[in-house]
Amino acid sequence: MTAPSLAEKLAGKFIVFDGPDGCGKSTQVQRLYERLAAAGTSVVQTRDPGGTEIGDRIRRVLLGHDLRAMDVRCETFLFMASRAQLVSEVIDPALADGSVVLCDRFISSTYAYQGAAGYDLARLLDLGNHAVGDRWPHLTVVINVPVERAFARISGKLDAMESRPRAFHEKVREIFLQLSTMYPAPVYTVDGSGTVDEVHARVVELLERAAL
Ligand code: TMP
Repeated sequence: MTAPSLAEKLAGKFIVFDGPDGCGKSTQVQRLYERLAAAGTSVVQTRDPGGTEIGDRIRRVLLGHDLRAMDVRCETFLFMASRAQLVSEVIDPALADGSVVLCDRFISSTYAYQGAAGYDLARLLDLGNHAVGDRWPHLTVVINVPVERAFARISGKLDAMESRPRAFHEKVREIFLQLSTMYPAPVYTVDGSGTVDEVHARVVELLERAAL
């Protein structure tokens, strides 16, 4: 029996790319999307927060504000609210159709960012279960780069989250690197150094060997 192609293996699977700001995950989501689409696979690309009209509005509230003025609970609930909508409007229907869903960030980001801001991780698990039910990702790929490298990649005006102090971003990265020990769904880390093609090759190699 021949091994299934990557497209066959990923059909109906929910794959999340995550990591610190500037780690290159959005480029990797796009790259994998293009590869799968070119092979004729039905694939949906989306992002969290956002991905729906309601979610995009919530995204503007979150990233357009001075977060020093926003209580971390308010912040957390808004991220969860956006993804509750994303799951019901986009992710669940796409998976039911047998499409691959590629999502830029998910609850893993709430663990890292709101966790770094002091939110209790056990509560995040409860809230996450409430927001998405069983719809935790089949696989979360964390792209790992040092904070200074990530910051060098972020150009132009920083959003509210990116403007937080460096120590905050170090903490975010630390949580991402430990995520597989605390997250209720499979997490793998991929080395984000090198060219886009090199990182893409590592991602494909991971998807080929991971049990899904
Ligand atoms: P993005 O620009 O990569 O889409 O991310 C938006 C920002 O929001 C980024 O700085 C990470 C942050 N964020 C959180 O703080 N918590 C979350 O749950 C999510 C999804 C993103």
